[in-house]
Amino acid sequence: MSMDILVGLQWGDEGKGKFIDHICSQYDLVARFNGGANAGHSIYYNNQKVTLKLLPSGVFYPNTLNVIGTGVVVNPIQLKQEIEQLIALDASLAVEKRLLLSAKAHLVLPTYPYFDRYYEEHPQFRTIGTTKNGIAPAYANKILRHNLRVGEVYRAAFPIELQAIVARQYIELQQLGCELPLLEDMMAEFLSAIEFLKSLAIIDTELYVNQALKEGKKVLAEGAQATMLDIDHGTYPYVTSSNTIAGGACTGLGVSPKNIGEIFGVTKAYTTRVGEGIFPTELVGVEADELRIKGGEFGSNTKRPRRVGWLDIPALKYAVMVNGVTQLIVTKGDILSDREEVPICIQYEVNGKKQAYFDVNQQEEDIQPVYQMMQGWRGDFTLIQDESQVPTAFLAYIHFLEQQVEVAVTYLSTGPNREEIIELKRK
Ligand code: GDP
Ligand code: IMO
Ligand code: MG
Repeated sequence: MSMDILVGLQWGDEGKGKFIDHICSQYDLVARFNGGANAGHSIYYNNQKVTLKLLPSGVFYPNTLNVIGTGVVVNPIQLKQEIEQLIALDASLAVEKRLLLSAKAHLVLPTYPYFDRYYEEHPQFRTIGTTKNGIAPAYANKILRHNLRVGEVYRAAFPIELQAIVARQYIELQQLGCELPLLEDMMAEFLSAIEFLKSLAIIDTELYVNQALKEGKKVLAEGAQATMLDIDHGTYPYVTSSNTIAGGACTGLGVSPKNIGEIFGVTKAYTTRVGEGIFPTELVGVEADELRIKGGEFGSNTKRPRRVGWLDIPALKYAVMVNGVTQLIVTKGDILSDREEVPICIQYEVNGKKQAYFDVNQQEEDIQPVYQMMQGWRGDFTLIQDESQVPTAFLAYIHFLEQQVEVAVTYLSTGPNREEIIELKRK
């Protein structure tokens, strides 16, 4: 059996969590392969919105096992809080018993969010607009080979080594002038979360996932963030610090590229971005405010207003290419309804010349999007049960998108709830 992968195709928040929650009944395992608590995957469970940051989006389906893979950076305090919140919401979900944690995943030490904040706020460093979760310091220390990993918590020397690293970094932060809690308090909170971590299944997830695939089990790799935020292939330096693209699922979970099946790519019917960086189709002013409010475009994780704009075909083509997307999922078409026309960016004009591809190195000032006007659509998306009920003009928009990026749209999300989605018979 092969592993399917789901990734975001834009700058995050495409509705990945909602889609996974919808399809995970078809999977035995859902596995996060990158990022950390910078993700915010919203799912409606019993009419309540829950935002998952570290936990995989299979947690609400009782028969699905959830894996936090090696490519993830784990903040134990955040994980403990998230699990406790879910237990309070519905203890019968037994989330903590259906979770497998990679022994090789790296820890987000308690000093990292302070370094993240320092770099973000200091005028000598570039402001990226991070989530301030300490993601970049965690991956940086991993690459420097200075970091501690989840599986090390059992070693007798772990508390001593942890204390030494944290104390050293604490002094560094003090010298940088950061406001900090007492070192004893920082350590006590972290060590209590480490004790909680020890109550979970910390295993060699590579072995487990590969064995599951061998036994014919169905595995879905859940991407966090999205293609345009990939550390290598995104709009560097305004990116996150992990490989968010489909290839990241192989390295993040230790599954061979030979064993990959479908690659689902999720896109909104328009575009959003949180944080700094290029966004060619960005809207500003009243039009942006209206779309932001109608779409509820405020960060699931940080509550920041999201930047909003029209669908960007060259950027999507790039994302489809670097991921090898085999099926597209389009969300939030309902938010664009009741417009006379919907612009869609088909190419750019760069220094007076037409350009059909997205160049991640291009400067914002150089790029002018060229729009094609698509007919707008009306209708109550909550009533849609199948393709025949989708407004014709919206279907035309979807067909146009398919033609442009040369991949079939196989699912349309029609609202935020689990059942608000239809499958399009295209294959
Ligand atoms: P993720 O990070 O990709 O999982 O996406 P987020 O959860 O951060 O943001 C997507 C937002 O859109 C969430 O508030 C979802 O509940 C909501 N959502 C997802 N699909 C749809 C849809 O088709 N229509 C509407 N109106 N909302 C949606
Ligand atoms: P999900 O999984 C949207 C953005 C931040 C910032 C940049 C770097 O919910 O789609 P980081 O904290 O990772 O160092 O921030 O990446 N970012 C996201 N934007 N959705 C996310 O996750 C994001 N995770 C990080 O806003 O611009
Ligand atoms: Mg999100």
